[in-house]
Amino acid sequence: MPSQFNFFIFLMCGIVGYIGGRDAYPFLINGLKRLEYRGYDSAGIALLNNTLNVYKKAGKVSELEEFVADKDIHGTVGIGHTRWATHGEPNDRNAHPHISQDGTLAIIHNGIIENYASIKEALITKGHTFSSDTDTEVLIHFIEDIRDNAKVELEEAVRLALNEVVGAYAIAIISKNHPNLLIAARKGSPLVVGVGNDGAYFIASDATPIIEYTRNVIYLEDREIAVIQDQKLVIKNINDNKVKKNPYIEKLNLSIESIEKGGFENFMLKEIYEQPRSILDSMRGRINTKNGTFQMSGLREYEHKFINAKRIIIVACGTSWHAGLVAEYLFEDFARIPVEVEYASEFRYRNPVVGEDDIVIAISQSGETADTLAAIELAKSKGAMIFGICNVVGSSIPRMTHAGAYTHAGPEIGVASTKAFTAQVTVLTLIALHIAQLRGKIADKDLRRFFGELETIPSKVEKALLSNDLIIKIAEHFKDAQNFLYLGRGYCFPVALEGALKLKEISYIHAEGYPAAEMKHGPIALIDENMPVVVIATEGANYEKVVSNIQEVKARKGRIIAIVSEGDVKIKAMAEYVIEIPHTEDCMVPLLATIPLQLLSYHIAIMRGCNVDQPRNLAKSVTVE
Ligand code: G6P
Repeated sequence: MPSQFNFFIFLMCGIVGYIGGRDAYPFLINGLKRLEYRGYDSAGIALLNNTLNVYKKAGKVSELEEFVADKDIHGTVGIGHTRWATHGEPNDRNAHPHISQDGTLAIIHNGIIENYASIKEALITKGHTFSSDTDTEVLIHFIEDIRDNAKVELEEAVRLALNEVVGAYAIAIISKNHPNLLIAARKGSPLVVGVGNDGAYFIASDATPIIEYTRNVIYLEDREIAVIQDQKLVIKNINDNKVKKNPYIEKLNLSIESIEKGGFENFMLKEIYEQPRSILDSMRGRINTKNGTFQMSGLREYEHKFINAKRIIIVACGTSWHAGLVAEYLFEDFARIPVEVEYASEFRYRNPVVGEDDIVIAISQSGETADTLAAIELAKSKGAMIFGICNVVGSSIPRMTHAGAYTHAGPEIGVASTKAFTAQVTVLTLIALHIAQLRGKIADKDLRRFFGELETIPSKVEKALLSNDLIIKIAEHFKDAQNFLYLGRGYCFPVALEGALKLKEISYIHAEGYPAAEMKHGPIALIDENMPVVVIATEGANYEKVVSNIQEVKARKGRIIAIVSEGDVKIKAMAEYVIEIPHTEDCMVPLLATIPLQLLSYHIAIMRGCNVDQPRNLAKSVTVE
């Protein structure tokens, strides 16, 4: 039984589908808007209404909506797709859905078919012609070819084709010749089936498009195919065709407000401001400061593993990797366990030395990042215990790991991760402190002090958010800079990396994060009067050292923006701008210092006219390698 984190409840392209008694279009178009965070370079829909109508357009879902305004959008069976290009440039031609050679089948696909080129070649010799550069079009032609040559039903042709393809997919297929049929399947890419109470079925890449219509959902497992025909759903295994008896229907308790903007201009700002709440939610019910106790259901069964662990290896990508770096400092500092932090994409391909005494912690907001999933598989095959830290309930990581903990930050829609990061760091802090206690490395009174301090973090984050007006001024001043440097030491080094990443992601300004002292070995050559340097210079063990680093920057006329502890006077006298954050323990500074950096990149990006929720070329969840 997969762990699912012993818990109750939750890229690339986004896919939706509907089959039922009503017009599919409203669900499809609204669903695509909800899933647009997964990819947004083109969008398309296919509807069955005696004929198979396919409409697709490069650009945003809103452009598709305009495009179909004067078209026939009726039909009670339909599929829709919002794309993040893997094969073929983003244009109308490469947008999904794709259709078969005979025009009777339409497919949408999230994922990547790695052996598409050889299949395509074989199909071309059989006379198939292709109108796009995508792997997806090859897949639907392949299915058609099997259907026609093996003379099997469509469902069987889909299954046989999927047994041949290498790669990852979540697909949905409809057929002009089967007006009451929708077939969906997954391997590696997520897919949820919503069970309506009027005989209708919904499919989507995640549950957000579905919850307005039904709260009953089934998360398809890898290598499962769902066949929905004549108001009935049958789930089978793709390999052996075995029918799944009584698939588990989960009741979602996600609120609609939690996936809407709630008065904010965009999701990113909403999510930044949600942090006092999301950090609190990530520790809710887990610590009791009075008696210094801690509970995390997912951890209990594996505590002995942590107590005896020779080493912890953390695998993650992007912002989650930065949370992993904070965790390295935490686990070594408190629990005294050696830690290595690995980019999942490197780890999976470099024949790493991993064994049964190792614990691998996989960190991921989405729980679907392809490289992180592959790193988990690899570590598992070498006998390591895998612990997941994940935000999206029901995603792949909770299913693949031995145990884990949800971050409970709520749905994160903005592509640049904000509240998921601080929730990850909070959960990792809790775990590191707890393991330190189990290993006898921390005194009870210190543990209580740290737990007590953690409980004050949500209100301190609220205070940190009050710097917003000052940050707007700073953003105005520096919005046209071509480069930024971010410096930090100790616990603040990962914060520097995260600050730089946020700026790059949403404002397209080149930024580098560096360990403050390491600056001397390279980046210092870049510093002149045009270079803004953001220094995280809070009180604590490294304070004086960072002050020296600031002097080094100043000596080269660099422009200092410093994040300091409340009441700091020394750095105030040296920096062009200072942003104060409340006092806290050194190890908790990342939870506070990250906040102004998120706001700084947010405001700079907005002033530069960038789309902060959907930055160019990025996807919320990278489900291909
Ligand atoms: C993408 C997102 C980032 C995220 C990274 C890892 O690059 O744009 O915001 O940090 O993937 O995603 P994960 O869901 O595994 O945390």
